Amino acid sequence: MKTKITELLDIKYPIIQGGMAWVAEHNLAAAVSNAGGLGLIGAANAPYEVVKDEIEKAKAATDKPFGVNIMLLSPHAESIAKLVVEEGVKVVTTGAGSPEKYMKMWKEAGIKVIPVLASVALARRMERAGADAVVAEGCESGGHIGESTTMALVPQIADVVKIPVIAAGGIADGRGLLAALSLGAQAVQVGTRFVASKEAVVHEAYKNRLISAKDIDTVVTGRSHGHPVRCLRNNMTREYARLESEGKSFEELEYLTLGALRKAVQEGDVVNGTVMAGQISGMIAQVQTCSEIIENMVAQAQKLAGSAMQWF
Ligand SMILES: Cc1cc2nc3c(=O)[nH]c(=O)nc-3n(C[C@H](O)[C@H](O)[C@H](O)COP(=O)(O)O)c2cc1C
Repeated sequence: MKTKITELLDIKYPIIQGGMAWVAEHNLAAAVSNAGGLGLIGAANAPYEVVKDEIEKAKAATDKPFGVNIMLLSPHAESIAKLVVEEGVKVVTTGAGSPEKYMKMWKEAGIKVIPVLASVALARRMERAGADAVVAEGCESGGHIGESTTMALVPQIADVVKIPVIAAGGIADGRGLLAALSLGAQAVQVGTRFVASKEAVVHEAYKNRLISAKDIDTVVTGRSHGHPVRCLRNNMTREYARLESEGKSFEELEYLTLGALRKAVQEGDVVNGTVMAGQISGMIAQVQTCSEIIENMVAQAQKLAGSAMQWF
């Protein structure tokens, strides 16, 4: 399966694993890269030393390319931006803003820069700034989201930029992969599906909650403050919604969710923790290895592409 993204990133399949806070550590990233996709370490709010250690462990676990997702609002963003250069990381994806101020340094180091975004305007701006590709992330996604759906966003971005587009949000099988390619994407970024993988170091309770989730089980919190986050409905989201409807400030709500994702991912508290997950959770039926997930996606997409020829 060759696309502009498999060529650009030197990977076998056009499948990237999202850089998920607390979830995307070196075991998952290396497993995805070893399976032919591109694994990412999610730096989130982690400090320099922690991310350095993760990168070094990933290097020991795979000889394939992998990347780092940098959350630009992190207090450690600046030092992580330098760390990826020092460590010779091949690919950087960025979230929560514009990475323009690091672009020159990264490009000089030969790093492929791929901002994650949710609007046509930002995609145009990132292309002008020198990005190698963009991830167009629809609001079906787990975690922090924008307003447009993947179906609407991807073709609109693909129409206006020359750099390759990677579709994210609501993709978990070969149908999603083929659909994304049909919309003009050159690859997909998958988050939620990889949380329910064998290699993800995520508490069993979190994985089981994903498997039991129905199509309508996600909710979006934080819309009123312009920081929407998609997660599975539980005590935490109900309490958040109650406080949000009472007009509590963003800071008060932030305090409520402090450490809540870690509590769910590491301690398995899926009742009072934050269970970030996308709308596609309802389709996930079992925990599989990253290799099984990727091989199944590719095989299903190829089979469907073959039968699609007969529709015309
Ligand atoms: C648990 C979880 C944590 C996430 N954390 C981050 C993050 O720290 N940075 C980021 O850019 N995206 C983050 N995301 C979004 C993913 O990288 C990816 O773009 C998204 O999950 C794709 O949509 P899907 O969940 O429908 O597959 C997160 C998603 C999940 C499910």
